[in-house]
Amino acid sequence: MAAEKLIDNIYWVGTQDYSRRIFDELVPLHEGTSYNAYFIRGTDKTALVDTDDPKFTHELLGNLQSLNVKHLDYVIANHAEQDHSGSLPQILKAYPEAKVVTNEKCKSYLMDLLPLTEEHFLTIADRQTLPLGGITLEFILFPWAHWPETMLTFAREPKILFSCDLFGAHLADSRIIMEKEREAEILDPALRYFAEIMYPYRDIIARNFPKVLALAPAMIAPSHGPVHADPAYILKLYEEWISPRVKNKVAIPFVSMHGSTEAMVNYLTDRLMEKGIEVKPIQLSGADTGNLAVAVADAATVVVGSSTVLNGIHPLAAHAVYLYNLLKPKTKFVSIIGSYGWGSKMVEQIQAMLDNVKAEVIPPVVIKGFPKAADFAALDRLADQIAESHKKIGLR
Ligand code: FEO
Repeated sequence: MAAEKLIDNIYWVGTQDYSRRIFDELVPLHEGTSYNAYFIRGTDKTALVDTDDPKFTHELLGNLQSLNVKHLDYVIANHAEQDHSGSLPQILKAYPEAKVVTNEKCKSYLMDLLPLTEEHFLTIADRQTLPLGGITLEFILFPWAHWPETMLTFAREPKILFSCDLFGAHLADSRIIMEKEREAEILDPALRYFAEIMYPYRDIIARNFPKVLALAPAMIAPSHGPVHADPAYILKLYEEWISPRVKNKVAIPFVSMHGSTEAMVNYLTDRLMEKGIEVKPIQLSGADTGNLAVAVADAATVVVGSSTVLNGIHPLAAHAVYLYNLLKPKTKFVSIIGSYGWGSKMVEQIQAMLDNVKAEVIPPVVIKGFPKAADFAALDRLADQIAESHKKIGLR
């Protein structure tokens, strides 16, 4: 895809990957993704901010050639992960005079991941600046957006923030700049991306967030998805997403082999709805992990529903519980429902998998066979307890 001008002397030069359908061999991509790189032409020096997925090095090089870039002074590496750094060796081959500008930690990761050595680097410290002539770059260490070494690069004069994975979205779109008139289009892809990539680090991001606000960027250019022409919208979304607040909502990821657990899920869903609680059941057979991440991200309560397989948790539920735990969720209450034929250790197994979940456990309801009157009564009590628990933390 052709280079695109953001403002005079600053260009998007990355790749729109319309064909990619899965990221990290885990997260389904509904609309592809992009690997954003940016070229900056100062009056004295030139710089490239991030590179490309190695599969698309030819596109990045082609974009630089189309801008008649004959000399490159700096390649800024905001993040070492290969979707942004993978083209570095080829870029340095094409522009051997360029220095890779990054922090100490990122340098060490890049040397682990790529055939790079100490002499390729110019190491910078937090808040250090690099003048290009008319445009001054400032580097802001911002760990865990989304690895420990991540940093942001701020072009001071035009007030453009190159934000690395932060504020990104998996979305391939020929309209590289997200103009204010259609900014709401970014909500779903940005939320999915946040829930999958950034959510586990929300507390650290929240601590560092004032650094971004203090910069008052006029434009935010992340490393995936569109450039935010007016950052107010995405900043407001992030302020909510990184907050410790949860919603009056119950997420129920479930799998049911013969309908017993599903009957329990449906009954519990109805009882919770009657109490004015938002409910999000997620059928795990064929489920999209992005949808699962979004569903559990802001729920006050998560109820895991599982059939029993060979005396234990169903493997699909185990997969979901493992992912849920990896996200270090802000869930306040957790419970388990499910059914078994002759015996089940699912409660102990699920509880053992939730070491990252600092939630109060509401007594599970795990029954033998298809639910009967006494089982539905137990689900009534579970719904009552969830409603009371939400009330206790001020949600109703
Ligand atoms: Fe898009 Fe963490 O790399």
